[in-house]
Amino acid sequence: LISRALRHQFVIPEWLDFISHIEEFYWSVKGLTGGKVASYIPQLARFSPDHWGVSVCTIDGQRYSIGDTDIHFTMQSCSKPVTYAIALNELGNETVHKYVGTEPSGRMFNAIVLDYNDKPHNPLVNAGSILVNGLLQSLVKPDMSSSEKFDYVQQYFKRMAGGEYVGFSNGTFLSERENADRNFSLGYYMRENKCFPEKCDLMASLDLYFQCCSMEVTTESMSVMAATLANGGICPITGDQVMQPNAVRDVLSLMHSCGMYDYSGQFAFKVGLPAKSGVCGAIMLVIPNVMGVCTWSPPLDSLGNSVRGLKFCEEMVQVFNFHRY
Ligand code: DON
Repeated sequence: LISRALRHQFVIPEWLDFISHIEEFYWSVKGLTGGKVASYIPQLARFSPDHWGVSVCTIDGQRYSIGDTDIHFTMQSCSKPVTYAIALNELGNETVHKYVGTEPSGRMFNAIVLDYNDKPHNPLVNAGSILVNGLLQSLVKPDMSSSEKFDYVQQYFKRMAGGEYVGFSNGTFLSERENADRNFSLGYYMRENKCFPEKCDLMASLDLYFQCCSMEVTTESMSVMAATLANGGICPITGDQVMQPNAVRDVLSLMHSCGMYDYSGQFAFKVGLPAKSGVCGAIMLVIPNVMGVCTWSPPLDSLGNSVRGLKFCEEMVQVFNFHRY
């Protein structure tokens, strides 16, 4: 970092100017009202609608955070690209995509629907992510016990976050499992259609899915995860090659087309960057070869995306030319 600084070779050379704009977007979006905090489990319903935090981490390790950036929240669906990345990294994309497709579903994230090959549409909707967790459960280190498998998977999350905060909310995990009729239905429906590998244990796969949704982060740690994806799988603050570059390419391609629920097409059009949102109110945004961004504000719009987070992303690309096209 220091030698790059001395050579003026940062990926964002005018850093102070850049963060003054980030600050400006932050404050302009803070006043937004509207949207509803997720209320299907008490652990999410308890969050104040006023929370608002943004963190950025560049691929050369420059950091900036503003607002509620050290409060712990669970990743929810923002974990889906990470579990997909682990499966790709361990199994390769041919094996993974024998079981899960690459098309947007055009349906709600939790719809009970398979594609024309009888596969879940993609790894970023619930069905696809439950399936990917099934692959992690049955094909990756199949001899591990479920507790060892949890540690193994969480270790990947931690390495992506460069050792910054990645915890686990047991309360959320238990609530998710108790309020998961739809996810259980998806699991049974996929098992009926022979979507899982033969030796896959459905209950253990669903548990792993709920556990991944219950991984806890802060905007700071999630911005480092996003930056690892922006940096071809190398964590910018540790230099650790966590994922192979081709795994990262696949993850970003699907985040671009499927990461923002039924707003994915509009987001790809307006913002033009890979992102994943979750019911926690976070958005993990990747600006490839530049930086990772995490925004967090619990109130969600009718499609499930954070109201403030969306507006922030849209404002940012109005000023900076990050849109891929
Ligand atoms: O499966 C669920 O209902 C949640 N735990 C995940 C929710 C989420 O963020 C929505 N996802 N696409």
